[in-house]
Amino acid sequence: MSLSKNSKIGVVGAGTMGTGIAQIAATFGHPVFLFDAYPDQLKKSKDGLENILDRQVKKERMSSDEVDGILSRIHFVDHMKDFTDCDIVFEAIVEVTRTKKDQIARIEAIVGKNCIIATNTSSLSIASLSSALKTTGRFLGIHFFNPAPLMKLVEIIPGISTDPETVKQARSLIDSWNKITVLAKDTPGFIVNRVARPFYGEALRIYEEGIADHTTIDWAMKELGGFKMGPFELMDLIGHDVNYAVTESVFEAFYFDPRFKPSFAQKRLIEAGRLGKKSGIGFYDYREGAENTDPEKNDTLGAVILNRILVMLINEAADAVFMNVATVEDVDLAMLHGVNYPKGLLQWADELGLDWVLSQLENLQNHYGEDRYRPNPLLKQKVKDGKNFHEK
Ligand SMILES: NC(=O)c1ccc[n+]([C@@H]2O[C@H](COP(=O)([O-])OP(=O)(O)OC[C@H]3O[C@@H](n4cnc5c(N)ncnc54)[C@H](O)[C@@H]3O)[C@@H](O)[C@H]2O)c1
Repeated sequence: MSLSKNSKIGVVGAGTMGTGIAQIAATFGHPVFLFDAYPDQLKKSKDGLENILDRQVKKERMSSDEVDGILSRIHFVDHMKDFTDCDIVFEAIVEVTRTKKDQIARIEAIVGKNCIIATNTSSLSIASLSSALKTTGRFLGIHFFNPAPLMKLVEIIPGISTDPETVKQARSLIDSWNKITVLAKDTPGFIVNRVARPFYGEALRIYEEGIADHTTIDWAMKELGGFKMGPFELMDLIGHDVNYAVTESVFEAFYFDPRFKPSFAQKRLIEAGRLGKKSGIGFYDYREGAENTDPEKNDTLGAVILNRILVMLINEAADAVFMNVATVEDVDLAMLHGVNYPKGLLQWADELGLDWVLSQLENLQNHYGEDRYRPNPLLKQKVKDGKNFHEK
């Protein structure tokens, strides 16, 4: 049996991500059952979705008939009885291994034997969550990005025991929702949350060394690099508690590889309660009447900053390919559509010249003498062979 427009969808967890996934599925005509363990959260999810869709009508992006159709297809439920004949269920509850495992086992006990079960986890291993199931072949990671209805990218992550048929069916369903799917190996951070680490980590390192302040680093990345947001603005927006937790979990999961080392500067912000925009102050001060310093708009300094962060990002992208986490094409698609980078990193590397990228990394490694800056073997091999990443 393959998944189709009529397939019945279950979503567990009516928070930010679960509500977004339910909205997408209902937009594409599926009957959806959205369950949350907390009735207040269900109400919040329903009210929030109605507001979002209402705004779409006001902006004339959707007709009220379309909105009524979407809302009529989503059933906000405080039990999982209706999940018995679901064809696929998405788990999108809190990021806690024990809680997720319990919930996944409960889903399996209710659904039919052909139902696919997917998790939206950002940081937990698919292998560990799959151990909660009796039939592990039906389980995989389907990782949406926030906000799910707007972000094009979805990472598809088979676990060690996932059946190829499960991957095929799940991927074609998500493709039918106009998403860009990429295939990622079950490794920490999958593609995006792994490859993007230097965007924050190297920016923080430059800041800690006192090479430039946060506003100057943000200016360089936006004005000279074409990134939509600077690393410090973005960390302030994500929240330092959340961003630091991801960095720390990736660092631990990679057995403390210095490439992923968290930063004291960010830790101190959290300890001081300066979590970013949500607490009124992070690196920037968002409180009323607050003044923030201007960047030092020096092109030479800006180029040093951009090049250093960019080559570290490229090195990480190369490593994802080298370690068979994903293909060159999928790594580029992931960074373009999962975090809206201005260019695919490996495409960018080809344009800059791989020998130049390698020499920048070698300079950093020679200067600092740190393993953090070691150039990836795949990059070195490409330079040796006179090849690019995108050459067949
Ligand atoms: N927020 C993001 O940017 C983002 C992006 C990608 C993936 N994710 C992942 O998606 C998942 C959900 O994240 P979120 O941001 O939507 O969280 P959230 O806190 O907004 O929502 C979680 C929901 O799960 C509910 N819940 C908790 N325990 C439950 C249980 N046992 N049974 C049923 N419902 C339960 C909560 O009431 C809440 O409504 C996490 O695994 C997270 O890592 C989040």
